[in-house]
Amino acid sequence: MMFGPAMFPMLWFLAKGLWGEYTKRPPLWLSYEPEAFPEVSYYDSICSVTHPDIFAGGCEDIKIVGDYAFVSCDPYMKQSNFLTGRTPNTPSGSVYIWNYVTDETPMTVNLPEDFGEFRPRGLSARQLSDSTKIRLFLTNAAKNASIEVYDFDPETKGLELFASLRHKDAILDPAAIAPLSDDQIFLTNTLGYPYSTLGTLEALSGFPIGTIGYMNLTDMTNITGKSVGGVTTPVGIEFVDETLYVASFQYGIYGYRLYIPPADLDPELVAENLSLSRMHFYPGETVYRTPYLPTHLSYSEELGGIVSAAVPSYSGEIKSWYGRSSSSWAGLLVDRQQEDGKPLVVSDSVTVGLRAADRKWQTLFWDKGGENFSGLKSMSVANGRRFGVSPHQAGVLVCKTNGLEAVEVPETVEKDDAPAQAKERQRNKDKLEHMYLAKDEL
Ligand SMILES: *[C@@H]1O[C@H](CO)[C@@H](O)[C@H](O)[C@H]1NC(C)=O
Ligand SMILES: *[C@@H]1O[C@H](CO)[C@@H](O)[C@H](O)[C@H]1NC(C)=O
Ligand SMILES: *[C@@H]1O[C@H](CO)[C@@H](O)[C@H](O)[C@H]1NC(C)=O
Ligand SMILES: *[C@@H]1O[C@H](CO)[C@@H](O)[C@H](O)[C@H]1NC(C)=O
Ligand SMILES: *[C@@H]1O[C@H](CO)[C@@H](O)[C@H](O)[C@H]1NC(C)=O
Repeated sequence: MMFGPAMFPMLWFLAKGLWGEYTKRPPLWLSYEPEAFPEVSYYDSICSVTHPDIFAGGCEDIKIVGDYAFVSCDPYMKQSNFLTGRTPNTPSGSVYIWNYVTDETPMTVNLPEDFGEFRPRGLSARQLSDSTKIRLFLTNAAKNASIEVYDFDPETKGLELFASLRHKDAILDPAAIAPLSDDQIFLTNTLGYPYSTLGTLEALSGFPIGTIGYMNLTDMTNITGKSVGGVTTPVGIEFVDETLYVASFQYGIYGYRLYIPPADLDPELVAENLSLSRMHFYPGETVYRTPYLPTHLSYSEELGGIVSAAVPSYSGEIKSWYGRSSSSWAGLLVDRQQEDGKPLVVSDSVTVGLRAADRKWQTLFWDKGGENFSGLKSMSVANGRRFGVSPHQAGVLVCKTNGLEAVEVPETVEKDDAPAQAKERQRNKDKLEHMYLAKDEL
């Protein structure tokens, strides 16, 4: 019987899961709008917006390798977005390769003539391990979704199509890519049901229907792919130190540790570990709350951490689709411990509204009214520069600055844990792990 007693545990799991997801939101997530922000006093002296004529709008992501910036722009995104309705036969977007040091005119990635619709969103660039070439992974979130892989040779400026990937489970609504190696990638699919009314419901409901996909190109005659897990509206993704960071637009940034079994481990134990989680990650995940709704992620070697851009609120995001300015924020994830083993609390005027345990962000760019740069969606930091793009503003934001402003560490962080609190905390941790398993089994 469908409505027998089995319903109760199912509902219980569902309620528990929903509550767990809910409590991972930033505190006061709907109304969170802390005041007391400094205005961008540093903007005029160090930042500028370059090439608004070329990067003509709808720019979603920027990634840096060496002297090159790779930028994806879709000026017609609005006409093909589920928020504003979809117009058939909208012109395609473009991906640019820009040497920001010599500042030559950026070149465009030319797709094959018969390619069809190209709706670029996030991208990823990676220096190949055995050559000077740079491998470019581009998302194409058109209805016929794909991942386009190109090899770019900085010496000859040659560009060669390496692979064009489509997969019914792994590539649905691709938003961003994190390469694990030259020929293995993880990618986010923001919606599980793109281009349908279900997509809108999905974005509003907060259910983890968006997915993380995995593609393996090691054997070009047998390219394989699969969906490895569900996340609510994932956008940015980055892989560093065996950890996969996934930005869920609604909930914050998840850190999953990839399961890499030690070489000497008994295969049976390995199999047991793998079955612990569909994602082949350790069940314990970390959630980093962000002051705003996070979008694209990048890893900055020079700052030694993950950089996330974020949009201020749902209403701000929708307003900016209709041409209004909105705040821009990007920050560096500072996930470090103090000497006494307690987490380092990083406070600045933007993140001070978060709970102490969530204050792990150092603001890298902040423009409250979006007067100078509105709706920042992606930021990359390299070569002493902060690069940013926004779908709602033409041009690339470039701020020339190295290092960080002072990190403020409050003297008393938390009172010593009373034994009861420590127990409660352990219990909560156990619960989280159990819940995670339950989610997998559903
Ligand atoms: C998607 O694009 C590929 C490559 O151009 C093509 O072979 C395929 O027929 C397309 N699928 C649909 C449903 O249009
Ligand atoms: C990737 O593909 C190669 C070649 O088919 C295979 O040997 C390898 O095990 C695959 N890697 C994973 C993690 O599935
Ligand atoms: C392709 O690779 C997968 C996993 O690596 C393997 O299970 C499958 O048999 C391979 N298929 C062919 C046709 O080689
Ligand atoms: C799982 O992996 C960990 C770490 O590699 C290992 O210590 C453990 O024995 C493995 N097996 C199980 C069942 O947890
Ligand atoms: C930044 O915005 C402020 C306030 O609108 C304006 O006064 C200033 O000229 C802008 N700076 C640049 C470089 O556009």
